[in-house]
Amino acid sequence: MSHPKKRILLIIGGGIAAYKCLDLIRRARERGFAVRALMTKAAGEFVTPLSVGALTGDRVFQDLFSLDDEREIGHIRLSREADLIVVAPATADLMAKMAGGHADDLATAVLLATDKPVLIAPAMNPYMWRHPATRRNADLLRGDGVAFIGPNVGEMAERNEAGPGRMAEPLEILTAIEARLARPTSALPLSGRHVLVTSGPTHEPIDPVRYIANRSSGKQGHAIAAAAAALGARVTLVSGPTTQPDPKGVDVIRVEAARDMLAAVEASLPADCAIFAAAVADWRVATESDEKIKKDGKKAAPKLELIENPDILKTIAHEGPGRRPTLVIGFAAETETVVAFAQRKRKSKGCDWIVANDVSPETGIMGGDRNTIHLVTADGVEDWPEMDKVAVAEALIARAADHLLSITANA
Ligand code: CTP
Repeated sequence: MSHPKKRILLIIGGGIAAYKCLDLIRRARERGFAVRALMTKAAGEFVTPLSVGALTGDRVFQDLFSLDDEREIGHIRLSREADLIVVAPATADLMAKMAGGHADDLATAVLLATDKPVLIAPAMNPYMWRHPATRRNADLLRGDGVAFIGPNVGEMAERNEAGPGRMAEPLEILTAIEARLARPTSALPLSGRHVLVTSGPTHEPIDPVRYIANRSSGKQGHAIAAAAAALGARVTLVSGPTTQPDPKGVDVIRVEAARDMLAAVEASLPADCAIFAAAVADWRVATESDEKIKKDGKKAAPKLELIENPDILKTIAHEGPGRRPTLVIGFAAETETVVAFAQRKRKSKGCDWIVANDVSPETGIMGGDRNTIHLVTADGVEDWPEMDKVAVAEALIARAADHLLSITANA
């Protein structure tokens, strides 16, 4: 894809993930974007202006009070001469300054002076990301219309630290950039709304090479995320391992196990609507082995003790005001008495709607392209005809958009 006229102003923050910006610049230029870079003072501790400038093919801006910089191109022009501003890595400190409207260096002055869309790729330690101050700042920034890509859940640079906080990969940031720049400005039914979707199976590790999984393909969840983005929503898709391509214009957080999925979902709140299409493993192995479990001539096969995973849907449906999404939709995968079990599940999980389907092997639904669903709400049960999963997704998202609109209209 080529974007001859699209100009990105990349603000590089001071974090270890700054090195990934070199790859981001290279890939963005390969796709035809013009990239101009601005580095915070702290960014200079991680990458050099020389390497950044060599890749952008332009000078690198650093200093608010540089006479040369201001004479040639001031901070106002820097923000005007861009179609999109990308902040990567967005550190906790930079996010706090943006949320507070600070303007004491070139990066923050440009961000305060801009009239252009801003996309940020947060990167920090998981404790910093989860800290109430960072949660508050993220909410403020979202309220100001700032778009987020990531952070992803995973290992940190520091030993034994893992969780949400890894900067999104350059290709994911590029996809988000392309989606931002392609987005129509006209109001769509879900414009200004945040929709959170879980999709795919989870993998529960037994040892470094083995895991417990299920047959979910992620087709239905990914189709729902794509349908929500098409109606103008900002969409966060938290996905277990699947071979599905990332839907266009959707922020994807990839996870493996149920506990990572819960952490990623919690870190992505608040949302207007949350749809739990993932086939989360109900159990995990009580003690994951650090080493591959060997046969070693033992007679008896190892016994796996299973313990229950957290119920993500139930946890989110029971969040308090301000955290619980306005509309919480669960799925019910059943193999018998589908509707009765789904009605019971709607109550026990505390969600608003349940999308129930029969996943008996003869239906071919699990892993297949078609789906026959029953929508269970407080008002009753609707039996939908058999449709392909994309059509189910579009119909469900259209219903959710209507519901959110009616709530806003009656508020
Ligand atoms: N779910 C979840 N977290 C879990 C288990 C399930 O978020 N640990 C969600 C699924 O994404 C789905 C709904 O709960 O939206 C119902 O999942 P399902 O597998 O049908 O039900 P379970 O709660 O696992 O109950 P059971 O297996 O006994 O039917």
